[in-house]
Amino acid sequence: MERKKILVTGGAGYIGSHVVNLLGSAPENYEIVVLDNLSTGRRESVLYGELVEEHLENLSAVEKIFAQEKFDAVIHFAGSIVVPESVTDPAKYYANNTENSLHLLKLCIQYKVKNFIFSSTAAVYGMGDGESPCTEDDHTLPINPYGRSKLMTEWMLEDFAKAYDFNYVALRYFNVAGANIDGKVGQCTPNATHLIKIASQCATGVREKMSLFGTDYPTADGTCIRDYIHVDDLAQAHLDGLSYLLKGGESQILNCGYGHGASVREVIAAVKEVSGVDIVVEETERRLGDAVQLISKADKIQSVLGWKPKYDDLKLIVKTALDWEEKLKNSP
Ligand SMILES: NC(=O)c1ccc[n+]([C@@H]2O[C@H](COP(=O)([O-])OP(=O)(O)OC[C@H]3O[C@@H](n4cnc5c(N)ncnc54)[C@H](O)[C@@H]3O)[C@@H](O)[C@H]2O)c1
Repeated sequence: MERKKILVTGGAGYIGSHVVNLLGSAPENYEIVVLDNLSTGRRESVLYGELVEEHLENLSAVEKIFAQEKFDAVIHFAGSIVVPESVTDPAKYYANNTENSLHLLKLCIQYKVKNFIFSSTAAVYGMGDGESPCTEDDHTLPINPYGRSKLMTEWMLEDFAKAYDFNYVALRYFNVAGANIDGKVGQCTPNATHLIKIASQCATGVREKMSLFGTDYPTADGTCIRDYIHVDDLAQAHLDGLSYLLKGGESQILNCGYGHGASVREVIAAVKEVSGVDIVVEETERRLGDAVQLISKADKIQSVLGWKPKYDDLKLIVKTALDWEEKLKNSP
């Protein structure tokens, strides 16, 4: 069988490294090229393929890669992801997330790369309606430059797919959490803001304490509710999306979540229970811009891609996160 060649931008980062791990061990024997500037990613996280250390904004270098390699598909993770930073430095987000995506898309058209998988986000839904799960047809109303920079890329994808011989799958991730089930890769991003990672760092003694922002939300226990998805399940969605596109599937926007949520208090309780450590939690005021509840309507991805989640279990997600933090703490 002819090997398909896949470009993975941002493949040295948290989610990208999990996808590269699955791609590298898939029976399809994919040829993998990772393009990453290692701004937040790590060389050691790239377990398969060739790592090209390069900035997406270095247009001539990236074009050279497209000219040399005949890619069958691009999976595009590279970007900036810290929401509060996007508010204070929107230029960085529109440049790295929107402008760099446009450059990449133009290269795809120029070099006839017809298949594209994009890391989108539940942030495109903004505050949601506070009650019902978000469906892919809901109005998008991002409330910060990060979400807008991602939604603008979704719009470019939609327009490119209409105008050119080009198909895409945009995956709207909900709250990505945990680490590879075999402990091969995990989240190393410096200053990560993800709740399960922070709570796990408290449990493993890397952090002294954590904040709980807002306890007066209109939910059963007063804290916000999110749909936490295990990073290996999310990674598998990319492989399913890739097979779908390589078989000629049409463009799709798909939620990536389990379709149910956990509150901040429930997550903290799970971390305490699984670790056996009574972590220190400081309850503080609400943070600006936190939606009460963001849960995905999760059936479209299952029917379109045949995606079947395997790790839909909060305690299991927490266990993989804790094991990874322990491993990081003990590595030189
Ligand atoms: N982590 C989440 O919960 C989450 C949720 C929704 C969407 N996403 C999206 O998923 C993608 C990956 O997120 P992540 O959590 O793995 O983040 P990450 O920071 O761990 O990974 C991003 C990777 O891209 C690389 N990179 C960044 N800018 C680059 C550039 N200009 N040129 C080359 N490489 C560059 C970084 O070095 C890093 O390896 C992002 O696009 C993000 O917006 C993440």
